[in-house]
Amino acid sequence: MSRTKFIAGNWKMNTTPTEAAALAADVAAAVKDVNGVDVAVCPPYTNIAAVAAAIKGTNVQLGAQNVHVVEKDGKIVTSGAYTGEIAPGMLKDAGVAWVILGHSERRQYFGETDAGVNLKIRACFEAGLLPIICVGETLEQRESGITVKVVEEQVRGAYANIPAAQAAKTVIAYEPVWAIGTGKTASPEQAQEVHAQIRALLTTLYDAPTAQAIRIQYGGSMNAKNAAELLSQPDIDGGLIGGAALKAADFAVIVKAGAK
Ligand code: PGA
Repeated sequence: MSRTKFIAGNWKMNTTPTEAAALAADVAAAVKDVNGVDVAVCPPYTNIAAVAAAIKGTNVQLGAQNVHVVEKDGKIVTSGAYTGEIAPGMLKDAGVAWVILGHSERRQYFGETDAGVNLKIRACFEAGLLPIICVGETLEQRESGITVKVVEEQVRGAYANIPAAQAAKTVIAYEPVWAIGTGKTASPEQAQEVHAQIRALLTTLYDAPTAQAIRIQYGGSMNAKNAAELLSQPDIDGGLIGGAALKAADFAVIVKAGAK
């Protein structure tokens, strides 16, 4: 099955609204003639409105980096007394299509758990948003030989009770923690190996067609130089790009590699 590749820029805690609007406009201009690949940028919350305006009518989609979800009496709470937080419906109304969930930085610094990610996935679907679900092992876990176990647990936890029809629309980002922001990329073979294992797990959790439909991005120091080789692997369906997404020209090279 051929999956349309999906390149998403995770801008993390970078850009002011003014800078974000300019970067988004540059990205849109740089990729405007590129077909056969999905593209999204995920700015900080404060810059969503500015980026939405900058990419209106272009082939660049909008994503957010997180969302806050509370469940009360089995129901998802969509507003209320949660100072400082942003609900799925607010993102949807602002023009957001995608939400990055369970990024390793959120797991590490903000205590995100697989159960929390699962709740956020459910809330995203209720609000009409699509999740990009991040998984990945630390260096210590890789070196002790438990990469597959760690990633499997994260995938199982995230997808608990998510029906196949919804699962098929989700995106997974496999991001080895040791490769994020370090300049150390997983080799294409290392990444492909884990991607294939994730897809095999999805086949057992669901069925072959569902597992084949789910796009699995690679993330972790993917850049203009190494993207093409990573993206040529059979189970690597795109990239979640941090540092290299902050330069429109570099990001555009990656998008073009995904279009091939
Ligand atoms: P990086 O970040 O490309 O800067 O390594 C990727 C990510 O954390 O999504």
